[in-house]
This record gives sequence, structure tokens and C-alpha cells, in this order.
Amino acid sequence: HDAYSNIKWGHPRWNTIPYTVAFQGRFNIHPFCFPVFLCPQHQNGMYGLHQGVHHFNSFDGVQSLPLLLGQANIRTGIIGKKHVGPGPVYPFDFAYTEENNSVLQVGRNITRIKLLVRKFFQTQRKEEEERPFFLYVAFHDTHRCGHSQPQYGAFCEKFGNGQSGMGRIPDWKPEYYTPDQVKVPQFVPDTPVARADLAAQYTTVSRLDQGIGLVLAELREAGYENDTLVIYSSDNGIPFPNGRTNLYGSGTAEPMLVSSPEHRERWGGTSQAYVSLLDITPTLLDWFSIPYPSYFLLGTPTTPVSLTGRSLLPALVSEPSPAAWHTVYASQSLHEVTMYYPMRSIHQGAYRLLHNLHYRMPFPIDQDFYVSPTFQDLLNNTLTGQPTGWFKTLQQYYYRDRWELFDLRSDPEEAVNLAGDPALAPVLESLRDRLLKWQWDTGDPWVCGPDAVLEDKLEPHCRPLYNGL
Ligand SMILES: *[C@@H]1O[C@H](CO)[C@@H](O)[C@H](O)[C@H]1NC(C)=O
Ligand SMILES: *[C@@H]1O[C@H](CO)[C@@H](O)[C@H](O)[C@H]1NC(C)=O
Ligand SMILES: *[C@@H]1O[C@H](CO)[C@@H](O)[C@H](O)[C@H]1NC(C)=O
Ligand SMILES: *[C@@H]1O[C@H](CO)[C@@H](O)[C@H](O)[C@H]1NC(C)=O
Repeated sequence: HDAYSNIKWGHPRWNTIPYTVAFQGRFNIHPFCFPVFLCPQHQNGMYGLHQGVHHFNSFDGVQSLPLLLGQANIRTGIIGKKHVGPGPVYPFDFAYTEENNSVLQVGRNITRIKLLVRKFFQTQRKEEEERPFFLYVAFHDTHRCGHSQPQYGAFCEKFGNGQSGMGRIPDWKPEYYTPDQVKVPQFVPDTPVARADLAAQYTTVSRLDQGIGLVLAELREAGYENDTLVIYSSDNGIPFPNGRTNLYGSGTAEPMLVSSPEHRERWGGTSQAYVSLLDITPTLLDWFSIPYPSYFLLGTPTTPVSLTGRSLLPALVSEPSPAAWHTVYASQSLHEVTMYYPMRSIHQGAYRLLHNLHYRMPFPIDQDFYVSPTFQDLLNNTLTGQPTGWFKTLQQYYYRDRWELFDLRSDPEEAVNLAGDPALAPVLESLRDRLLKWQWDTGDPWVCGPDAVLEDKLEPHCRPLYNGL
């Protein structure tokens, strides 16, 4: 969660697993975990966060990954953060989540996580007839903490560090960093406050990283290392300005590591293929040889739900042709219930195009990001007219253009919007068409916005509003 997209590959823990392929054309879709494994939020109905007052749930008819696996007699387990609902749509045989545990314990206490993984494998072994399994371990690190448990620090980096009042996590050797040691991503303001904030997050990276090591050791101990597909990814960028809740690269680029004992061809290799979380369900169904059922959801009464992702397994055998694996999409409508800001984007080859549907509204700020030292510092500096150390102004961040087009070769920072550049008009048009096609294919209720209304009787079509947009 909120994973360390700013930490480079080749982290020591991963070097111990020989059979890994890292995807570098990595990408991902907000918001959050399970529903996106299947189809984008505008299709599954879970338009924002699930928990608390936000209370979003996906449609009752969604054929989720754990549901399909359960029907195929695969044992399912979840440890850590769940944040999806309703319950019956996401059934697990073994569940230790924030629904009935402390999220600090099941999501950040790596000793507790280790023991739960062990328990899952012990009960697996006890089964009369051993079934294949699917275990989802959802770390809460490296999420922010300042809004919910500030006593443990801005990232809960003190939780379990053995200091007075912080408790101890026996398996964790905290790694500490000074503000001058951190690498400030280009999209984060380079100030002493932001550096200290990043250093705190780095400490939780050490907890996450050591936790992954423990989970993999349990897998080995249980004797499953040579018949288990391991996938590591995250669901959004770091919770810093321009990061999480944005569809820029800084909000969506994620680690994606896939480790297969069955696909030896590219062990230790790197792929340039563009992949997304929408590929997880097709990959797992492929791994278990389960077909995807044909069914309909409310939003798409005429078209069956189709998976727009694809199995990653072929990419473990040989590098896919760049022309075939060079497009990924992203979709967000809300984060918290108050944060309505629908956006759609396409990343194809060198270009990223974003559609900010309600661009005349200020971009919304989430509660835990608001209280973060980095954002408070940015607000204070902006208010007092001090240098912010940031590559854009707060005004630019709040008020965006409707269309944003970036050439990632010359502008990896996504600082220069080329949507108005006449030389790129054909690129803009082609990307816009592709994005719209994907929206139609995935039954996006926002497909006609913001200047038309979708009428879906008989043949779905857009009726103009003449609202000047
Ligand atoms: C915790 O919740 C899950 C459902 O999410 C349920 O299967 C499990 O039995 C619950 N465990 C306890 C101890 O209540
Ligand atoms: C972490 O979990 C272990 C095992 O359940 C427990 O002994 C330890 O006290 C927990 N640490 C914290 C900080 O809660
Ligand atoms: C897995 O494969 C490795 C390398 O071939 C071997 O050393 C190890 O013993 C195997 N583990 C099991 C549980 O079979
Ligand atoms: C921002 O300003 C407020 C009010 O002056 C102050 O309390 C707070 O400490 C400042 N925060 C940062 C991060 O500078």
C-alpha cells in the first residue's frame, strides 16, 4: 500500500528469489486493492474508499477473484488490509483483516503477520485433501498514520520500534535515515520538512521489506517455494504532493514483480511491457486454468463484463513485442466521499493523456494527506509567500486543464502540458479515441462527461448539454 515507487529495483530481499521478473513499464489503477484486480472502479461500482463514512461497495453481482477461486475449490486467505465490500462479494476461507483486528497488528506488525501466514499454512497442511491456495497479504505499510494514529509518527514509523510506549515487533530491525540521506522524488517539494517526512516513510519501508522476507521464509518452510507464483505490487503512489490520488505517473507507477517457479526462461530479468493491476486476475486465472465466466453488471446491460487486462505469464517466457504491450489505462472518481474528482487516463508508448472531467473544481485533498508535515509545510510556505521547493504552485495543483498530455521522453516529470500543441493534435486525438473506446468497453457511466449526458436506452449514446465545455 502506498508503496515505495521511489525505491529502485534490485532491493536485497528480492535478489534472494531467483525466479523473479520485474516489470518496468509498470502502472496501476486507483483506487484500492481487490476490485481493481478485476475491472476498473467505474465498472465494478466501488467508486471510492470502502471504510468508515466513505462506505463504497462494489455491485453485488461482481464475480470477484476470491469468489471465482473459491468456486474452483481453491482455498483463499487474506491477511491485513481489506477495504473492499460488500462481504459476500469478497469471501475468504481464512481472514484476518481490519474488519475484526487492529490494522496495526495485521497490517504493520510483521511478527504477527508472519505467525498468521504460518497459521494459514498449518491449516492448509491439515486439510484432508490438500487444495491449491491463494493467499493475499496486504501490508498497511507504507501508508500514512498521522490522521489515525499520530502517536506513532506520521507513518507509524515508531510503532513497535522498542522505544518507550511504542511496543516491540520482535522480527523488525528498524532502519533509520537522516533527512539528507533521502532521495527526494522530483514531484515532492525539496524542503527540510518533506525530507524528514520521507525519512520517516523509509523506516516503514524497512518494516515492509523485512515483512516480505518473513512471508517468503514461511512459504519456503512450508515447502511451497517451488510450486507457488508470487506477485508483489501496490495500489498507488506515495502519499506526497502529486502522488497518491493523482493519475500522474507519480501517483500510479508501482513496483510489479512476478516470480514463477514454472517459467524459468527469464529469471532475474526485467520487462519493458506496460502492465497494470487489471492484469492480476487474468494472470491468476491463467495460473489456475480457470475460465472467466460470462456475465452482466448493471452498467453494461448489453455487453458482458470482459476483463480488459491480460495474463502476465507469457511475458515471463519471452519479452512481448513492444507494440502489443504498450497501453495501460487508469480511472478514478472519488477517494474519500467528499473528494469527487473524476479522471481517466491512458498511457501509450511515450505519451500520457489525462482527462480531468470536472477540471473547474479545485482538486480535492484527503484528510490524512492534509495533516501531513509535507502538505502543511507547502500550505504555510504558499500562504507566507516563501519558496515552496516544489515544481508547481498550489494554484496549478488545484486547478488543472481539462486535458493534460505529456511526452514522457522529454518531460518525465509531467510538467509541461502539450494538449494545446498543434503539432501533437493527431496524437491527442488518437489517445482520446482510445481512452473513450476503453470507457465504452468497460461500461463507464462517465463516458459522456462533462459536456453531455449518457442515454443508454436502445443504443447507448451521448446527448449534448451545451454547457460551453
Ligand atoms: C473476521 O472476519 C472474517 C470475515 O471478513 C470472518 O471470516 C472471520 O471469521 C472473522 N474472525 C473473527 C475472529 O471474528
Ligand atoms: C507484534 O506481534 C507479536 C506477536 O503477536 C507480539 O508479541 C508483539 O507484542 C506485537 N508488537 C506490537 C508493537 O504490538
Ligand atoms: C526447490 O528447488 C530448489 C532448487 O532446485 C531446491 O534446492 C529446494 O530444495 C526445493 N524445495 C523444495 C521444497 O522442494
Ligand atoms: C504551519 O503553520 C502553522 C500555523 O502557524 C503551525 O502551527 C505549523 O507548525 C506549521 N507547520 C509546518 C509544517 O511548518
